[in-house]
Amino acid sequence: MCGIVGYIGTKQAAPIILDGLEKLEYRGYDSAGMAVYDGKKINITKSVGRLKVLENLTHGGETLPGVCGIGHTRWATHGAPSDTNAHPHFNKDETITVVHNGIIENYIHLRQMLTDKGYEFVSDTDTEVLAHLLDYYYKGNPLEAVTKVLHRVEGSYALGILFADCPDQIFATRKDSPLIVGQSKEGCFIASDVPAILKYTRKVYYVDNQEVVRLRADHMHFYTVDEEEIQKEPVTIEWDADAAEKAGYEHFMLKEMYEQPKTVTDTLMPRIKDDDIVIDELNMTDGELAAIRKIHIVACGSAYHAGVTGKYVIEGLARIPVEVDLASEFRYRNPILEEGAMVVVISQSGETADTLAALRESKARGFKVLGIVNVVGSSIAREADNVMYTWAGPEIAVATTKAYSAQLIALYLLAVKLGRVRGGIDDQMFSSLLADLKCLPDQIEMLLNNKQKIQKFANRYVGARDVFFIGRGIDYAISLEGSLKLKEISYIHSEAYAAGELKHGTISLIEEGTLVAAVSTQPDLYAKTISNMVEVKARGAFVLAVTCEENKAIEKAADYVIYIPETNPYFANSLAIIPLQLFGYYVAVGKGCDVDKPRNLAKSVTVE
Ligand code: M6R
Repeated sequence: MCGIVGYIGTKQAAPIILDGLEKLEYRGYDSAGMAVYDGKKINITKSVGRLKVLENLTHGGETLPGVCGIGHTRWATHGAPSDTNAHPHFNKDETITVVHNGIIENYIHLRQMLTDKGYEFVSDTDTEVLAHLLDYYYKGNPLEAVTKVLHRVEGSYALGILFADCPDQIFATRKDSPLIVGQSKEGCFIASDVPAILKYTRKVYYVDNQEVVRLRADHMHFYTVDEEEIQKEPVTIEWDADAAEKAGYEHFMLKEMYEQPKTVTDTLMPRIKDDDIVIDELNMTDGELAAIRKIHIVACGSAYHAGVTGKYVIEGLARIPVEVDLASEFRYRNPILEEGAMVVVISQSGETADTLAALRESKARGFKVLGIVNVVGSSIAREADNVMYTWAGPEIAVATTKAYSAQLIALYLLAVKLGRVRGGIDDQMFSSLLADLKCLPDQIEMLLNNKQKIQKFANRYVGARDVFFIGRGIDYAISLEGSLKLKEISYIHSEAYAAGELKHGTISLIEEGTLVAAVSTQPDLYAKTISNMVEVKARGAFVLAVTCEENKAIEKAADYVIYIPETNPYFANSLAIIPLQLFGYYVAVGKGCDVDKPRNLAKSVTVE
C-alpha cells in the first residue's frame, strides 16, 4: 500500500532512500517524504505528489545531509494526500519520527488518550499516533519504547523509526504488512520490497510479525516483542535486479506482457517431469488428492478472475465441485467448509489483507490452505500450509498481466493433476493436455508479436464511454479480466457480463456504436454466444470478437475479429487474454494515462 525505505551506513542516506523509493512507487504515489539525521537533528522533507516532486525539492537527496534516514511513498488511507499527511511524522519536539505502511485500527482511541495527555496532532493520519505514542513511552530506551507501542496498537503496520537521541540506529518492525531488512558492506537497509535494495545487497532477512530490528551501520539485531534477542537466517535473492527495471520498454506493463511466454514456461515446465505432472509443493499423495471433495478458491481482483477460470477447469477436468469467493466476502460470510474440503488462496503479492485474512480464517477452522503465490517469502507464502509459487518474477505495473497468466498455469496443472489421479483423464487425453500446455508459451508469443492489429483497433476507442465484455463459461471468466484491465488503467467504464445474462437488464445500455467485446473460445457455447452478439449488434453495438482460428463464420456476426491459435478449450484463457490486455494497454496509452500507476490504485492492497 505504501513503500518504506531506510538506510544507515557510510554513504549519504537520502539519495539511497530516493533510489529505493523509486522502485517502490508502485505501492503508492500520492505523496512522499524523507527524514534524515544531519548530525544535530532530524530534518524532514515531504510533499504531496509523485516522488519526482521530492527528488526536485531535495536535488536528488543532496540537500538532506546525513548517513541515517527513512523514507516513504504513500497511498492515502487516513487523511487526503497532502503535505501535512505525507510521511514521515514527528513527535512534538521533533526528536522521534516514523514512516508507516498499513492501518492502525485503534488510532481513534489512542489519539483521544494522547490528546487527553496534552499531545497535539497536526495531521489526519493514523500514523501520527505512533510518533506521539513512541514519545509517550520513550524514557531513554528506544527498544523498550517500540515494544511498548507494539503492545498498544491494533491493526497492520510496517514501521521505520528514527530517534534523534540514538542517531546511530534505525528501528524497524512489522505486523501483516511486508518488511525486509538487508545488509551490505556499505550499510544496513529496510524496505517494503526487495527491488528497493537489490542494487546494494542480495542478502535479506524477512521480518516476522511483531519482530523488532535494530539496525546500525555495520550490523543488526532482531528482537521479539518482549525484547528478547533472536537469531535469524538471511535469504539470498536469486533473481536479477534487471527483472525490476523497464529494460527499454515504454511501460512496465508492456514489458510484463512480453514476459508472459517466459512466465508461463517457468511456472509450467518445472512441474512436468517424465511426461507426468509433479507438484511436490502440494505435499499430498495421489490418494489424498483423489480424496478431496470440494475446493474453495479465495482471492481478490485479477487473482479472483484466475480463480473463476480455475473453477471451470477443475470442475470440468477433475469433477470436483469448486466454490470461488472474493476474499473480502469469504472472510465475513461464515463460509461452510466441510470435511474433505481444500482451500486455495491466490495472490500475486502474497500480502493482500483480505486474502491473508481468508487464509487465517480457514486455518483457524482446521483446514489446510494451499497458496498460489508469486512473491517469495510474502505473508501468504509463509502462512499457507503449502505453496505453489508462480514463477513470474517481480511484477511492477499495478495492472497485473504476467502474474495472472502464471496463476492460470498453476490452476491448469492442479486441475489436470486432480483429473488424472481421480481417473477422469485417460492416457491419451493426458498426453494431449500436456502437449497443449507446452504450446502455450509460443502461442502467447505469437499473439504478442501480432499486436499491431489490436493497437490500431484500440486507437479507435480512446474516446469510448462504456465498453462491455461478454462470454459464457470460461469466456465469461476471460471477460471479467479483460474488462478489469481496460477500466483500471484507462478509466473507461466497462463491465463484464455472462453473455446470456445481458438481456436481463444491461442490454438497455447498448447504444449506437457501443463497443461489445465478445469472447467465444468454447466450442460448446459458440452458437449461443453468436446469438448474444447478434442481439447486441441489432441494438447498434459494434462487436469485437475474440475467437479461435477455426471459427471464421463469426465474421458474419462481428465487426472486427481477433483470432487465437488452436488449444484445448480449457486453456483458451491463456491466449484470449493477450489481445484483451493489449487492448486495455493501448487504449490507456492513447488516452495519455499513467499506465503503470493508475489513479487511486496501488499494487499491493494491504488494508481491507
Ligand atoms: O496481489 P494480489 O494478487 O493478491 O492482488 C489482488 C488484486 O489486488 C489485484 O489483482 C488487482 O485487482 C490488480 N490491480 C489487477 O490488475
